[in-house]
Amino acid sequence: MDNRKIGVFDSGLGGLSVVREMRKIMPAESIVYFGDTARLPYGSKSRAVITDFSRQITRFLLEQDVKAIVIACGTASTNALDTLRSEFDVPIIGVAEPGARSAVRASRSGRIGVLGTEATVKSGAFDKMIHQLAPEAEVISQACPLFVPLVESGWFHDAITDRVAERYLQPLIEEGVDTVVLGCTHYPLIKEAIGQAVGKDVKLINVSKEAVLEIRDFLDRMDMLARGGESTCEFYASDSIDHMASFAELVLGMGGLTANKIDIEKYDKR
Ligand code: DGL
Repeated sequence: MDNRKIGVFDSGLGGLSVVREMRKIMPAESIVYFGDTARLPYGSKSRAVITDFSRQITRFLLEQDVKAIVIACGTASTNALDTLRSEFDVPIIGVAEPGARSAVRASRSGRIGVLGTEATVKSGAFDKMIHQLAPEAEVISQACPLFVPLVESGWFHDAITDRVAERYLQPLIEEGVDTVVLGCTHYPLIKEAIGQAVGKDVKLINVSKEAVLEIRDFLDRMDMLARGGESTCEFYASDSIDHMASFAELVLGMGGLTANKIDIEKYDKR
C-alpha cells in the first residue's frame, strides 16, 4: 500500500479527462495535477522544448512527493516519455502506449486512424507502437490543431466544434478506418462531436481511460495502490488559475475547487 499522491500533468486542461477517469476507476487515489496553461499549446512546439517543459514539471511533481507520474498529454507522451523515464527515478506512464494497445485490440480491419496534435503526428510514435503490435496495420494520422483551443474554451457541445470535427474526420472516413484513437487528452472532452462525425460503426479509443487502467494495474502489481483514508485533488497551473478551477469543476462535476499558480520555470536545470 502507498497512500502518496499520483502526479498528473498536461499542457493545459485536457489532462483533466485523465483525472476524471482516475476518480471513477481509482477513487482512493490522491492526485496532484499541473496544467502548463502559460505555455499551451505544446502541439506546435519542438521535441526539445516539449521535453524541457516536461522535465521542469516532473521536478515540481517530485517535490510534491508523488509515487508515480501520469503524462496526461499525448504530445508530451509521444515526445518526452523515454527521456523522462531515463532521467527520473519514479514510475512514469504516458497515454500513447495504452492507447495504441487498445486500438490494436479493437480494430478488426487493421485500418486505424490516429488524431493528435501536430507534434504528436510528427513524432510518428503512435504509428511505431501500433506497427510493433500489428505489423500489417494501416495507420492514418490526422493533426487537429483547432481542437485544443475549442476544448480550452469549453466548447464541448457547439455547432462550430461539430463542423471542425467533420472536417478533420472526413479523410479518415474516406480511408475506411474502423477505429480512431483520440491521441490527445483534450479530445475525450469532445468525444460526442468526434463520434458523430465518424459514425457509430467506428470505435473511438479514449487514451485517458486506457492510461488510467494501465496505471491502476501497474500500482496493483507493485502493491502501491492507496487504501483507506480520504483522497484529495490539488490543482496547479502556470497561469489562469481561475479558469482552471472553473474548468475542473465542469469536467469533474465537483464544486469549490481552487487552483494555485506556480512559477514552473524555476524548476529549470536543477
Ligand atoms: N492535451 C495535450 C495532448 O494530449 C494538448 C496538446 C497541446 O497543448 O497542444 O496532446
